[in-house]
Amino acid sequence: MVCLGNICRSPMADGLLRQKVKIVGLDVFVDSAGTSNYHVGQQPDERMMETAKRFSCPIDALRARQFDVSDFDSFDLIYAMDSSNFNNMLKLARSKEDEAKVKLILNEIYPGENKAVPDPYFGGEQGFVDVYNMLDKATDVIIDKLKKA
Ligand code: 4NP
Repeated sequence: MVCLGNICRSPMADGLLRQKVKIVGLDVFVDSAGTSNYHVGQQPDERMMETAKRFSCPIDALRARQFDVSDFDSFDLIYAMDSSNFNNMLKLARSKEDEAKVKLILNEIYPGENKAVPDPYFGGEQGFVDVYNMLDKATDVIIDKLKKA
């Protein structure tokens, strides 16, 4: 799960998918990263942690890291939160195989629409709840696909 800072959207996506993988008993490794190095080593944004806790999916244990080209070797699927994250990862891709791993997460619920999970960082509380709800729906679809894989 990849966003810009790895302190708001991708930690929530990571937390939700991690929780669902555990609930259904799948052997899938989930992690997250940011395309920037702005917040490396930091806990998620306080507002995202609060929202996550409110919906019983705590993400306090996560520490931000920067996406690295080696992630193309470590992961089969790489979900970008918006087209900027998507394009930044494609710039790092070394092959068509790397490129094919990168998806826009909301295309899981709105196929082909290339919608973004809006960056909640500079907005109000509702933005964090909206992010939670979008990612809850998207990770449900991802889990269904992983169960069938
Ligand atoms: P995220 O949100 O990409 O969802 O983690 C942001 C966090 C920090 C900044 C931007 C977006 N920032 O500019 O520092």
